[in-house]
Amino acid sequence: MAKTTTTFVCSACGASHKKWAGRCDACGEWNSINEEAALSTGPKGKTLGSAKGRQIGLSDLSSVDAPLERSRFGIEELDRVLGGGLVPASAILVGGDPGIGKSTLLLQAAGDFAKAGHKVVYVSGEEAASQIRMRAARLDLSDAPVKLAAETNLRDILTTLDAEHPDLAIIDSIQTMWADHVDSAPGTVSQVRTAAHELTSFAKRRGISVVLVGHVTKDGQIAGPRVVEHMVDTVLYFEGERGHQFRILRAVKNRFGPADEIGVFEMTGGGLRQVANPSELFLGERDKPASGSVVFAGIEGTRPILVEIQALVAPSPLASPRRTVVGWDSGRLAMILAVLESRAGIGFGGLDVYLNVAGGIKLGEPAADLAVAAALVSARQDFALPADSVFFGEISLSGALRATVQAENRLKEAEKLGFSSAYTSTRVKLVSQTGIEVRMAEDLTTFLENCFGRIES
Ligand code: TYD
Ligand code: MG
Repeated sequence: MAKTTTTFVCSACGASHKKWAGRCDACGEWNSINEEAALSTGPKGKTLGSAKGRQIGLSDLSSVDAPLERSRFGIEELDRVLGGGLVPASAILVGGDPGIGKSTLLLQAAGDFAKAGHKVVYVSGEEAASQIRMRAARLDLSDAPVKLAAETNLRDILTTLDAEHPDLAIIDSIQTMWADHVDSAPGTVSQVRTAAHELTSFAKRRGISVVLVGHVTKDGQIAGPRVVEHMVDTVLYFEGERGHQFRILRAVKNRFGPADEIGVFEMTGGGLRQVANPSELFLGERDKPASGSVVFAGIEGTRPILVEIQALVAPSPLASPRRTVVGWDSGRLAMILAVLESRAGIGFGGLDVYLNVAGGIKLGEPAADLAVAAALVSARQDFALPADSVFFGEISLSGALRATVQAENRLKEAEKLGFSSAYTSTRVKLVSQTGIEVRMAEDLTTFLENCFGRIES
């Protein structure tokens, strides 16, 4: 009987199945399974155990390696996100929504890197060389010695890179790459996976750093670069709201540096501009106290960042009132509303709740709980909190306020930006003194009394 040569692969998680199904068993995603050519199983389809391999040399943990030599792009926000510059022979994936500015960022990085004397090849599978030159002119990079190619054939690209031997190769994007030995269309999981595998192993073998660009759509329509995340050393996400000019580059995985580090950029007519002091940007236009507006003293990666959180509460005409969140997790908002209701007796039934994080940044820290709770109650009571205070602390389901890491860094940043008091939990340990008056509370009820006095529910 002929062997089956196709397999069914989930485009969301990459799991392979024997037959098609409407829903992937592995990740639960609907309508994500596509038919694809099976990956080769080796010589004549034999299992690995039946043919002898080569013996591998083993080494000790105590073996001494030369320290990592990093090369800097000269774009401070990018270098910091990478953990201090580019590690030779590393593979980096830059993911993000189409149109967010990935090609712009990488062309700027390529230009600066080439101007600093490194050899850079930029391969685009999406745009013609003339289009890239037009963009370079707009970015004032026409004189940068970057080598360009508009190509999608992986075999030709690898041969060229092998001959040119650059320090850095940028592949824009991995979804457009086409490996001629894989029997499916560009953009499918097997093509994306094969191309990423070939490029990353080539990078290690030949000592060339590669940057792969990957488009991610919100509904995972395109075979996502999720399967590629495991293969590369570093995964960066470029995010931001379409209507906002601010863009955040976030390290979600980094074998050579801290994850969760962010770099902040602003998209201008002449390309991306670095934002050196993001707190000033995320604080919005705050001149006088307003109800529902609160400043959260957050930490993103290694950096403290102050962010304005805004809440609006209005009577709802709907049977199940609206809960709208921008920049925060909606499940977490539901939890804070429930804790406010059952532990502090402050209900939001019959009220629409809108929560917005200013500047287009997405917050992931649980320490934002206290600031969110303060903003919600301030909006509900139409009571403005002092504009010179910051808030941070995690709220547990019992209503207790939990300890938060790096409290001093948060306070120092607040002091630097002219704030004079901070509200947080009694469980926060402060070793050194700052010029900020710290008001601590044991639980949510005490905190709300400190801020608002007695509240009629
Ligand atoms: P692009 O880098 O092509 O996005 P991606 O590669 O992630 O798909 O960026 C496209 C957007 O950026 C486009 O809407 C135009 C805008 N842009 C500027 O605002 N200023 C600039 O200098 C450039 C080059 C692009
Ligand atoms: Mg692009």
